Amino acid sequence: MSRGKQTLPQPGPASTRRTGSRLKRIVACVVTVVIVGVIAFAAFAWRPAFSEVPTPAPSSFSPVLIQQGARLAAAGFCASCHTTTGGKPFAGGYAMKTGFGTIYSTNISPDRETGIGTWSEAAFLRAMHEGVARDGSHLFPAFPYDHFTKLSDADVQALYAYVMTRPPVHAENHADEMPFPLGIRALQAGWKLLFFHPGRFEFQSSESQLWNRGAYLAESLSHCSACHTPRGPLGEELTNRLYQGAAVDGWFAPALTAANPTPVPWTSAELHDYLTTGLSRYHGPAAGPMAPVTHELATLSPDDQQALVTYIESLGAGDTRAGRTAPAVTAALAVDARDSQKISTANGRLFISACASCHYNRTPDVNPNRPELGLNSSVFVDDPSNLIRVILYGISVKEGAGGIVMPGFARGMSDEDVASIAAYLRSTRTDKPQWPNLTKQVAAIRAAGPGEIR
Ligand code: HEC
Ligand code: HEC
Ligand code: HEC
Repeated sequence: MSRGKQTLPQPGPASTRRTGSRLKRIVACVVTVVIVGVIAFAAFAWRPAFSEVPTPAPSSFSPVLIQQGARLAAAGFCASCHTTTGGKPFAGGYAMKTGFGTIYSTNISPDRETGIGTWSEAAFLRAMHEGVARDGSHLFPAFPYDHFTKLSDADVQALYAYVMTRPPVHAENHADEMPFPLGIRALQAGWKLLFFHPGRFEFQSSESQLWNRGAYLAESLSHCSACHTPRGPLGEELTNRLYQGAAVDGWFAPALTAANPTPVPWTSAELHDYLTTGLSRYHGPAAGPMAPVTHELATLSPDDQQALVTYIESLGAGDTRAGRTAPAVTAALAVDARDSQKISTANGRLFISACASCHYNRTPDVNPNRPELGLNSSVFVDDPSNLIRVILYGISVKEGAGGIVMPGFARGMSDEDVASIAAYLRSTRTDKPQWPNLTKQVAAIRAAGPGEIR
């Protein structure tokens, strides 16, 4: 027995023996603390499994409820994340690259083996409100449950009715690719403790019904801030910088507050056109990851669209600055007119030959099918990614306004050419400092490739 051994005389000077036993006590203490800590954390992280239930028959849900669920699913972009391009709806497998590895969305069709066909409504409700799967494991916040937690029970029930009445698809989930220990699901309990605030949306009585409806949609289902708010080192949204603009999927989602740097304010009218048609007269098209958002918002009821516009407008109070629109447009058109005169720089000539045939506007107003680069956010934001991407890869028919496209220049232009045009626009259209290391940034975006346009 080790206990008996300790009482035996030890060789060596007494001081070493004392240090030795003190060290052992310290080690024993540390080990005990660690073991107790691990047990306590495991107990804290543990969630019960919900038992499997028979898949509810489609006829058990009322058509009205299913319809309501369909509209909510559109506003929550469920299909965008839970379907791969060309894949079956809701079969999952869409890869989300995060700073912590690649997480794949799961099969949420009602297939009993590979989807969520065995999930009760209670299990679904817990997943949406708390980010816990039916088997009790924690879900990663790539699934925006930190926003869905604000959904009312009634809306989650409608979503359940909609999802459970989709055709079941047999498709195994794709294993996540995350380095150890980030893939350990129990650790998510720690993340939740630090950053997750479960709870339903709170009505603001100082604001109108319409504003509240918009806030509810934006903050819960449509999770606008998941892309438009910068994130901290652990992937948490920085709540003290809400909607102040953030890098996402190789793009930059501009600020939706008064910090938005475009010269024309985001008025209700501009927001309405942009969010519901994918193109606004002065701010141009919604490209990249914003394109599928606008496609879904186009299917919302007019009331919900107006509610969303009302709430988003209030973030930057664009309507109060509507008077700035006319002077900003006049200034941008004056730059276009100057460009049509003699150009003395090589960068300028490159821009004129490659871009100005389409991106030229003349008084009295901007033609929305010829986005005015002197008003477009891609030229004004601190991050040049959007402008570089659009020049390299163009704008597909799936993005922006239906029916109009922009060609990409990746094959015809060198990294220096693209950088020169970006620099020319930055210096002639804005009073902002030049972007640093442009050529390198073009090379990096070219190396990363166009990504998936959805
Ligand atoms: C931004 C992308 C994204 C959106 C939008 C999204 N999901 Fe997901 N969802 C995910 C990912 C990724 C996972 C897997 C998370 C994990 O493995 O921890 C997931 C998991 C789930 C799960 C758990 C399934 C399981 O197998 O454990 C449910 C249920 C779910 N989503 C429902 C929905 C519904 C309903 C909507 C629309 C209201 C929605 N999701 C919108 C990305 C998304
Ligand atoms: C998946 C990420 C993502 C989500 C979700 C998202 N956005 Fe965006 N948003 C972007 C990106 C990226 C851009 C830049 C698009 C471009 O340059 O064409 C953008 C652009 C915008 C713009 C134009 C800003 C400007 O100055 O050009 C507005 C307005 C906007 N989003 C509002 C919203 C609203 C409202 C929601 C929620 C209903 C939302 N976004 C959800 C990624 C997202
Ligand atoms: C053949 C016509 C054409 C040419 C040439 C062209 N564009 Fe475009 N561009 C468009 C159209 C059309 C859109 C809007 C697309 C849509 O709404 O789907 C657009 C959109 C844009 C946007 C808005 C992106 C956003 O997300 O808001 C930028 C920036 C842009 N172009 C820059 C350029 C630059 C720089 C060049 C030259 C290298 C160029 N374009 C050449 C037609 C063109």
